[in-house]
Amino acid sequence: MSLFNDDQIRFDLLRKYSINQWGRYPPDVIPLTAADPDFRAAEEIRRAIANMAVDGVFSYGGDGGNSAFRDACARHVTHRKGFSCSPDEVFATSGVAQAMMLTCKALMEPGDEAIIFDPVDFLFGKSIDAAGGRRVTSKVSWETLEFDLEGLKELVTPRTRMICVCNPHNPYGRVLRRDELKAMVDLAVDHDLWIMSDEIWSDIIYDGREHIATASIDGAAERILSLYGFSKNIRVGRPPTGLHYRSEPRVDG
Ligand SMILES: Cc1ncc(COP(=O)(O)O)c(C=O)c1O
Repeated sequence: MSLFNDDQIRFDLLRKYSINQWGRYPPDVIPLTAADPDFRAAEEIRRAIANMAVDGVFSYGGDGGNSAFRDACARHVTHRKGFSCSPDEVFATSGVAQAMMLTCKALMEPGDEAIIFDPVDFLFGKSIDAAGGRRVTSKVSWETLEFDLEGLKELVTPRTRMICVCNPHNPYGRVLRRDELKAMVDLAVDHDLWIMSDEIWSDIIYDGREHIATASIDGAAERILSLYGFSKNIRVGRPPTGLHYRSEPRVDG
């Protein structure tokens, strides 16, 4: 059974708290607007937040995330995503949107080019624009949902710095196949490009399909920034083995 199914959804709470989405429309309307998931946060997370609120200490975190958080992320990625990640390779941001902005600003000079797919989540283009870069788009077919892997090579110029992957792909809602990822990584290796791989949807996979992390493809490791987030996928379910929450919660979840 999927951890992400309709039984998890509490419409009464959505109407109360999701003010910009569910709260804005009459009860018989299903708002398909922002990608604000309808799943509740996992019970362990609700308890941890409640405990912290009761303790009442809200101090600054460490630069790029405190060490317990980075350790937990590194373990999670190594156990769940199929490539090895150490805590010093983790950098915490306030979300994937911010991570995309920082990545583009760090890796691109004004006038540099980044290859993005079309259509894709608007944040890719916005982040490239914010860095003064130029978007170079590769069409993904509406009919077949296939990428134009051959055509990708034609898009590379001396100003190309990066290829931006969205895996699983938003808006098409499909995982990328190994051959597709390999073609993208090979292109990056051949032309010495960075890869920005947004994998924020990678825990919500249906119908027995498999998400393959782009970083697990040969050649990707030394040129990739893999972006994972919490706004979609940490809603329900058990934490991975090795993550510890306070065992005796003082506030019920
Ligand atoms: C593909 C994709 N990347 C990034 C984001 C934004 O992530 P965050 O909420 O962590 O900023 C979204 C949100 O819908 C998204 O769909």
